[in-house]
Amino acid sequence: MAWCKDLGLQITVDQMGSIFARKKGLNPDLPVILSGSHLDSQPSGGRFDGVLGVLAALEAVHTIIDHGISHHHDIEIVSWTNEEGVRFAPAMVASGVYGGAFTLEYGLDRIDADGIRLGDELKRIGCAGDRSAVFNPESPVKAYLELHIEQGPVLERSGKPIGVVAGVQGIRWYDVTITGNETHAGPTPMHLRQDPVPVLGKLIARLYDMVTAHGPDARLTIGELAASPGSRNTVPGTVRFTIDIRHPDATILEYMHRDVVSICTELGAHCSKIWDSPPVHFDQQCIAAVEAAATEYGYPFLSMVSGAGHDAVYVSRVAPVAMIFIPCRDGVSHNESEFSTPEQVTAGANVLLGTLLRLLNVQDAGQQTTPFSH
Ligand code: GLV
Ligand code: MN
Ligand code: MN
Repeated sequence: MAWCKDLGLQITVDQMGSIFARKKGLNPDLPVILSGSHLDSQPSGGRFDGVLGVLAALEAVHTIIDHGISHHHDIEIVSWTNEEGVRFAPAMVASGVYGGAFTLEYGLDRIDADGIRLGDELKRIGCAGDRSAVFNPESPVKAYLELHIEQGPVLERSGKPIGVVAGVQGIRWYDVTITGNETHAGPTPMHLRQDPVPVLGKLIARLYDMVTAHGPDARLTIGELAASPGSRNTVPGTVRFTIDIRHPDATILEYMHRDVVSICTELGAHCSKIWDSPPVHFDQQCIAAVEAAATEYGYPFLSMVSGAGHDAVYVSRVAPVAMIFIPCRDGVSHNESEFSTPEQVTAGANVLLGTLLRLLNVQDAGQQTTPFSH
């Protein structure tokens, strides 16, 4: 926020804690162009997932200011709250409130594992703003652009510096509980126990067989798993775990969902779906602007579908959206070793800047700005 204020940008914070920094254009009646991503991370997250998109938007705006480029539309940099959904599930919650996928009450009422409310935490850290967190159709958005690392190995293997994102695959999240009976680990013979762990073993095997049966584009992840009360010499009374399933095709995702529910039901596990983010397709004109910018600056690109969820998914419900990917080393993300080279970051920032200039209808954009060199 200090960097944005130094550039003379006007800062507002919305009711979900998302931060906006606005550079005024010449015509306040025109729709704003938004660009950004998120600054929250994962338990062992790296320095690029989210941060890249916010800083690159700031750098692009900085460049427009440095070059004295006049433009008619306002530009707004945005950092969305809680994209990751680690402490407060689900993911993309503030952009979801903005895009109308969730109500404001739902967003603020998310609770963490200790029962603490997101809305209360925003107040406690001084981040509960007063700007409406919900998109207002009377203030339309011309386009939303998000630069991000790919977070997988596809782009790096293609050898191309830029990914033009056609859309994002569908995601569903579940909380699963298997209930047994707590008892001492020693005295109770195996056949007299109600131990949820053998059920867990069968369930996991069935789930992984299921995802394999749905082909190479299907994904399943069990990322959180806990036995309660969590003592090595007590047979657990409950086992809880999470399921994340993904597929680019809505019909196959629905078949996977039915399989998850029937496998859990057959084995006596309680399964509740807590998040459903359908596959999305981004805006053709915004995609064309990204491709034109990449071509103008001489970067070959790959058209691709995003495996990860992004704030752009929910913003696309209310505005035309495009995303730009750059490769990350070995496709590793959600880990501290996440890395993209200065050259890769530079290419992404250049394509973001070039796309912004096109959408701003700035004449001779290519002549007015020299692409960044790292
Ligand atoms: C969101 O970041 C996701 O892909 O889980
Ligand atoms: Mn991200
Ligand atoms: Mn992430």
